[in-house]
Amino acid sequence: MPAVVVVGAQWGDEGKGKATDQLGSRVDYVVKFNGGNNAGHTVVIDGDKYALHLLPSGILSPGVTPVIGNGVVVDLEVLFQEIDAISARGVDASRLLVSGSAHVIAPYHRTLDKVTERFLGKRRIGTTGRGIGPSYADKINRVGLRIWDLFDEKILAEKVEGSLEQKNQLLVKVYNRRAVTVQETLDELLSYADRLRPMVADTALVLNQALDAGKTVLFEAGQATMLDVDHGTYPFVTSSSATAGGACTGSGVGPTRIDRVVGVIKAYTTRVGEGPFPTELFDSWGELLRTNGGEFGTTTGRPRRCGWYDAVIARYAGRINGLTDLVLTKLDVLTGIEQIPVCVAYEVDGLRVDDMPLDQSSFHHAKPIYELLPGWTEDISEARTFEDLPVNAQSYVLALEELSGTRISSIGVGPGREATVQRFDLVD
Ligand code: GDP
Ligand code: IMO
Ligand code: MG
Repeated sequence: MPAVVVVGAQWGDEGKGKATDQLGSRVDYVVKFNGGNNAGHTVVIDGDKYALHLLPSGILSPGVTPVIGNGVVVDLEVLFQEIDAISARGVDASRLLVSGSAHVIAPYHRTLDKVTERFLGKRRIGTTGRGIGPSYADKINRVGLRIWDLFDEKILAEKVEGSLEQKNQLLVKVYNRRAVTVQETLDELLSYADRLRPMVADTALVLNQALDAGKTVLFEAGQATMLDVDHGTYPFVTSSSATAGGACTGSGVGPTRIDRVVGVIKAYTTRVGEGPFPTELFDSWGELLRTNGGEFGTTTGRPRRCGWYDAVIARYAGRINGLTDLVLTKLDVLTGIEQIPVCVAYEVDGLRVDDMPLDQSSFHHAKPIYELLPGWTEDISEARTFEDLPVNAQSYVLALEELSGTRISSIGVGPGREATVQRFDLVD
């Protein structure tokens, strides 16, 4: 099975980093295809914790070639900070490849992200403030800067000048900020060019050739289905294609080459930032999930909003991504809850709906219809086979599988690399 896509099935932070890392020893390339350093993936190896943002999680596996694909937006300062930090811990980052067609997050994108959010007030998105949205907006507006541009000073200067002409009007006249100079922008961006040059490649060519040679390629999504700019809870989404289709556009590998699409999903639900969330809990149950699950953002440290598992969303993610497998994470966090509510459908304006309502206001009004499943009290963190799990935990998994419409191939019972129950192989 040479090409596997791993996506988030909820609102992010499902444990994609751990899932990718686990497959690390079995794959040759790990490709990040969307987003940027808004992502935060925590991977725990032998008790050591690594927090990755812009670098693909596969970087932690010796032998893997990590690739930043064309669909990513790259903050060069963050890129080198992360490379330095991880190298200082003994991880070899020398194989990293960066697509020349990936877009750059310029300092003014970060500024615009923050001032726009402030300007939106109570309509804000709750972004990570990393300049992601403004950089993608420039890409779509055809005034973005690509990695290739850094190697042609004249072209870069022309593009920065063109882009700033508009942005300075906005910054000064609308947002009451100082104008950004072309020179300061060029100085910062060009300061990275020499160090970047050896990593830059036609990564679409590299990946297609790797697949031709029978190599295994894993495509790792940042964010998740419900944050996807087309399929998520727009406008409370990120600005990229975080679903399986994004793996193709964001890497230059065609859909006929993808063999498996794995959705990572928590045994409950979390969300960071603003926007609708039907199963959100505002009581002590939400607090319990947050505390037991350590639900604080890897990127911004914000407390994550917590709620019960939502099978409507799981079915939707199955459909939108064409999921072949689910990786269920954090089952251990539910240990000790006597009866676990699972959302099986919604009530919208007095009617039961089984599918995701796509208009914003219906989803805002959706009330979860819950089924209660019996919980377990036994510690499951040492379980390594399905049979090791208490019967009620097994039944919980099987019920989620049935309700979600995709087989659950792996079950997370702790943050460590080894803390997993494998039911079906993900890269066979
Ligand atoms: P990502 O953004 O999807 O990669 O996920 P994050 O790393 O932001 O958040 C997932 C968190 O859950 C991390 O702190 C992981 O170490 C942790 N984690 C992943 N799988 C499990 C699991 O099965 N059990 C527990 N207790 N923690 C897990
Ligand atoms: P990983 O890859 C959870 C959320 C932000 C905000 C919205 C838009 O770790 O799962 P942005 O800065 O992207 O313009 O913010 O998207 N968001 C995430 N939430 N996990 C993430 O990444 C996220 N990346 C962005 O909180 O609501
Ligand atoms: Mg995360």
